[in-house]
Amino acid sequence: MSIEQHSATPSPPPFDGAAAASRYGNAFLLSDAPDHKLPASGMSPSDALRLLEEELVLDGIPMRNLATFVTTWMEPEAQQVIAENLHRNYIDHAEYPQTAVIEQRCIRMLADLYNAPGETIGTRTQGSSEAIMLGALSLKWKWRARREAAGKATDRPNLVFGGDVHVVWEKFCRYFDVEPRIIPLQSHKYTIGPEDVEPHVDENTIGVAAVLGTTFTGHADDIVGIDALLCRLREERGLEVPLHIDGASGGFVWPFLYPDSPWDFRLDSVRSINVSGHKFGLVYPGLGWLIFREPSDLPEDLVFYENYLGKRDMTFTLNFSTGSSMVLAQYYNFVRYGHDGYRYIMESMQANARALAAAILAIGEFELVGDEGAEQLPLVAFKLTGKDRAYDEFDVASQLAAERGWMLPAYTLPPNAEHVTIMRSLVKRSLGHSLATTLANDIGEACTTLAAKGGLHERDRRRVKTGTGY
Ligand SMILES: Cc1ncc(COP(=O)(O)O)c(C=O)c1O
Repeated sequence: MSIEQHSATPSPPPFDGAAAASRYGNAFLLSDAPDHKLPASGMSPSDALRLLEEELVLDGIPMRNLATFVTTWMEPEAQQVIAENLHRNYIDHAEYPQTAVIEQRCIRMLADLYNAPGETIGTRTQGSSEAIMLGALSLKWKWRARREAAGKATDRPNLVFGGDVHVVWEKFCRYFDVEPRIIPLQSHKYTIGPEDVEPHVDENTIGVAAVLGTTFTGHADDIVGIDALLCRLREERGLEVPLHIDGASGGFVWPFLYPDSPWDFRLDSVRSINVSGHKFGLVYPGLGWLIFREPSDLPEDLVFYENYLGKRDMTFTLNFSTGSSMVLAQYYNFVRYGHDGYRYIMESMQANARALAAAILAIGEFELVGDEGAEQLPLVAFKLTGKDRAYDEFDVASQLAAERGWMLPAYTLPPNAEHVTIMRSLVKRSLGHSLATTLANDIGEACTTLAAKGGLHERDRRRVKTGTGY
């Protein structure tokens, strides 16, 4: 080869930006994410995936979300069940009869776990909120039927519950025209008992709601006491007032941690129970359950019978189409863990919660909320001790978020305990012993930093999570 030939290497083609973008780029890389308007043309699947992945790094990491009761980790096999059934519409009972059979198995297992006396009925819901709406509607319908049968007025129904309930109970009252009779908390009492309930109950009370594991501190209302009160009111004053248990979180905890503590259908007044499959049922969101004591607790005219795609179908639900995956995942958990497995998991969480509580106390700045030894969800609710310091719980939450990215909520309690600010860490399967120890150390570090530099600037405090978490 001659020298001339060697130097005549062809020069690279001129840079073609559009061609390079289609080969190396991502459609969104040089422009903002589509917003306001459906994009005129789309992008490749991998670009769309990258775009979403990139956006979502701005979200918190679910496992560092210590506020949420909702499941943040499931086994790979359970995830496989979920992924493989996303295209199965749960409501198509005619086409997916086995899914409907599996749903009924879950309902029977829960009814048995809750000591139902015999045959029962229930339904799968999107979460405890839908289950509560349906359960409370049943209370309203049954009350109205009783009143109509007695020839009495039906225009002023009321529902009695404590200030320690989740917002869904007030929501039900507003949406379905029922007077909420909310029992205020007290400065040193964050759950309710019979003495609080009694003054609010009358002939227009459709029911009383009691919580098993409150969103605020994880404790239970005095359900045994409230049941005894309602039995007495039935005997002495002929008042028929059913008890609904909001076991959104506690319904999967108490049967395993406190099996001898009655809160369920062992008590005469308890007519219905809701529980979130997606909380301590250990399933990803959204799944809830509503279980009645007996089939007659579900008013017949709340059930819709339809001829759907050639089959007579029965529904009792606020929604219609939804995925089957979470129902199937719940059944996966039931057969995979059984009673022993759930018990082991709940006991592990409780042990880690106790270890975390001890480590937080050892920091020397905090006290626990609630009596030692009280029945409680696997969580730690704590607050700063009374001594004077330049920072508060909101500052600790913010500092912790800044230093380590932990999402640990600080919030004030509902009236009349709004002067109390607490912090609360859920201890789920995604917070093992070693992470719990790290968390306690990080809380201690945050306090040390705050003690040296003082409370945070108002702008920093905006980072603080002030909701209770769900
Ligand atoms: C006691 C209680 N009831 C009801 C709910 C609402 O449950 P869901 O989020 O499953 O609708 C929650 C949620 O945190 C709760 O803690």
